[in-house]
Amino acid sequence: MFMKLFTIFFFSLLSQSLQSSSRTLDFTYNGFVTEYYSNMYNNISIEGTASLTSNGLLVLTNTNFQGTGHAFYTKPIRFKDSPNDTASSFSTAFVFAINPQIPILSGHGLAFVVAPSLGLPFSYPSQYLGLFNISNNGNDSNHVFAVELDTIRSTEFNDTDDNHVGIDINSLRSVESSPAGYWDKKGQFKNLSLISGKRMQVWVDYDGRTHRINVTMAPFRKVKPMKPLVSVIRDLSSVLLQDMFVGFSSATGSVRSEHYVLGWSFSVKGEAPPLSLSKLPKLPWFKDTRIDRFISLLLIPLLFIISLLFLVRFILRRRRKLSEELEDWETEFGKNRLRFKDLYFATKGFKEKDLLGSGGFGSVYRGVMPKTEKEVAVKRVSNKSKQGLKEFVAEIVSIGQMSHRNLVPLLGYCRRRDELLLVYDYMPNGSLDKYLYNSPDVTLDWKQRFKVIKGVASALFFLHEEWEQVVIHRDVKASNVLLDSEHNGRLGDFGLARLCGHGSDPQTTHVAGTWGYLAPDYIRTGRATTATDVFAFGVLLLEVACGRRPIDQNENGERLLLVDWVLGFWTEENILDAKDPKLGPEYDQREVEMVLKLGLLCAHPNPQVRPTMRQVLHYLKGDAMLPDFSPSDFCGGGMTLGINQGLGELATFIGVSSIADSILSGGR
Ligand SMILES: *[C@@H]1O[C@H](CO)[C@@H](O)[C@H](O)[C@H]1NC(C)=O
Ligand SMILES: *[C@@H]1O[C@H](CO)[C@@H](O)[C@H](O)[C@H]1NC(C)=O
Ligand SMILES: *[C@@H]1O[C@H](CO)[C@@H](O)[C@H](O)[C@H]1NC(C)=O
Ligand SMILES: *[C@@H]1O[C@H](CO)[C@@H](O)[C@H](O)[C@H]1NC(C)=O
Ligand SMILES: *[C@@H]1O[C@H](CO)[C@@H](O)[C@H](O)[C@H]1NC(C)=O
Ligand SMILES: *[C@@H]1O[C@H](CO)[C@@H](O)[C@H](O)[C@H]1NC(C)=O
Ligand SMILES: *[C@@H]1O[C@H](CO)[C@@H](O)[C@H](O)[C@H]1NC(C)=O
Repeated sequence: MFMKLFTIFFFSLLSQSLQSSSRTLDFTYNGFVTEYYSNMYNNISIEGTASLTSNGLLVLTNTNFQGTGHAFYTKPIRFKDSPNDTASSFSTAFVFAINPQIPILSGHGLAFVVAPSLGLPFSYPSQYLGLFNISNNGNDSNHVFAVELDTIRSTEFNDTDDNHVGIDINSLRSVESSPAGYWDKKGQFKNLSLISGKRMQVWVDYDGRTHRINVTMAPFRKVKPMKPLVSVIRDLSSVLLQDMFVGFSSATGSVRSEHYVLGWSFSVKGEAPPLSLSKLPKLPWFKDTRIDRFISLLLIPLLFIISLLFLVRFILRRRRKLSEELEDWETEFGKNRLRFKDLYFATKGFKEKDLLGSGGFGSVYRGVMPKTEKEVAVKRVSNKSKQGLKEFVAEIVSIGQMSHRNLVPLLGYCRRRDELLLVYDYMPNGSLDKYLYNSPDVTLDWKQRFKVIKGVASALFFLHEEWEQVVIHRDVKASNVLLDSEHNGRLGDFGLARLCGHGSDPQTTHVAGTWGYLAPDYIRTGRATTATDVFAFGVLLLEVACGRRPIDQNENGERLLLVDWVLGFWTEENILDAKDPKLGPEYDQREVEMVLKLGLLCAHPNPQVRPTMRQVLHYLKGDAMLPDFSPSDFCGGGMTLGINQGLGELATFIGVSSIADSILSGGR
């Protein structure tokens, strides 16, 4: 059935073409340069602003002045077999693009044109699209057929909008027009913007028998829609002459605009050959959608993979950062060892904000333990030498088991590489030094100070004599005395001084401690003893009673030892004048005097003369009277000389050894 119909149709077509006895003419330009013909021989004649680019684009306009551009197929096309015959069917297809340089101020459009001559002399630019001039517009003697792709609404030509397609016969006043767009397969109208810069296809078909003119549009790469955009019945026999020229016309106004034709095919008495869209030349601004697709196909997964890698790296880093390092020897300290992760979260990653202070042994951070919500102080001690760490941890843990009401409780430790983290109870009232100097906001009255002194003394006594082994604190000072919620003095940082010196030869042990608290015998020999702790405690007693630093400056800017200063008052028999004026009137005169003298006795240059902590505790509790001694016991090669000598030696000592300033965290 189908075959039969087809054969009939075929033969009727054949007979028709035999009747008209003329061969069909057609040509195809997939770009306007061919392999064998240079621009000159490609049968395209250009005029006005038009030009051809080396890659084969037909540029109709590319200027910002008023001008017209024409491009015509150089040979005349025979539309009629004889001058009085009816016009034959014809068909054309082309791809164009308009550069959207300034979208709101677009230039004018372009038109496919069938004209009686090669070019359109006397035509006007701007809204005349290079087709007509003001006097011949609308005159039937023009013999011009055009399809305009107009981007400006010219009310004088009854344009419907600034983005329309119209069929023009001898006049810019279109016989039929429509907003640019196409009817898709579902029968829905889709708008197209002519100045979008996108490539678009246009088909113009004229049926010589039915006289129907169809204009159809579609986006690039879309198949030709079934339903035309503009369709009208008009016999073109009176318009078209026997031989006509076909081509394109465009014009600019005052705004720069660029009109391009990328490919074109034409046929008389047949359908225009389809264009090979993939062979068309590239537009200067156009990025190939295949590249876009390639990029999106390749780049998006690539980006995804990269971001995944970053995420994995971040997670791994974080895990490594928070990972635990447990060495075999540490298992015996089991419950004293805390998890680094907990400490990390407790201190919110050791934030600067939570830094309580930093000193010779490291920085102290405030934190809240995750589960128990207990407030803690975490001390980060960095330790350069790994050897001896085991012994030190053992000692710390053993000391941590000591429980004394005047020691800051050590809750546990954590070791990570060569860093040691010691976790203490958080002391809400801070360290003693903050209440003594630098015009403190809160001062302690004598009762409170005396309680603190007694507390520290009993802690030191505990370390020296009551614990199973002798523990030398090595860094007794006001900033190491912390006040708990009841303002009890608690000694912190015990045993830490060992860390800086451990593992090295006792002969060359570095002097560790704090400037102003170092006993002269310690500086000379480098050996810490209980007596060197007593010396430092003596300095602390004077500090508490006088509210002054161990080494201060007088009005003349000279450095002054607190010991010398107190001794000076005693020599003048008014030792009580050395007391802290911030004490106020409420104090026990006998106690203050006793503390000042005891401080001097403890800080005696001769370690043999210094009392033991047991004796000190007796004196403080009033169980024993201070031995009889006078300022003269310190003179004559005594106190003053001893201390100064000690400092001098220390200075040289610092000069020759590489002792870090940080170890001697001087006078905070
Ligand atoms: C130009 O015209 C000549 C002669 O008609 C023809 O041989 C040639 O193929 C044409 N060139 C192009 C590029 O169409
Ligand atoms: C065409 O028509 C004109 C008048 O309409 C006539 O003068 C002329 O002879 C005709 N030519 C031919 C070839 O039929
Ligand atoms: C318009 O064009 C016609 C030719 O089509 C020419 O004869 C005429 O002089 C032109 N008029 C103007 C005003 O340019
Ligand atoms: C149309 O143009 C022709 C020739 O250019 C001229 O003689 C005629 O007067 C014009 N007609 C109108 C209506 O302008
Ligand atoms: C143009 O539009 C005006 C008003 O809408 C109308 O009067 C006139 O007839 C129209 N002209 C043409 C040629 O369509
Ligand atoms: C198409 O364009 C017309 C007029 O420009 C507008 O009214 C209509 O909303 C547009 N439709 C779509 C789907 O953009
Ligand atoms: C024009 O389009 C109609 C469909 O709307 C179609 O039937 C007709 O064949 C078309 N004519 C030409 C010349 O393509």
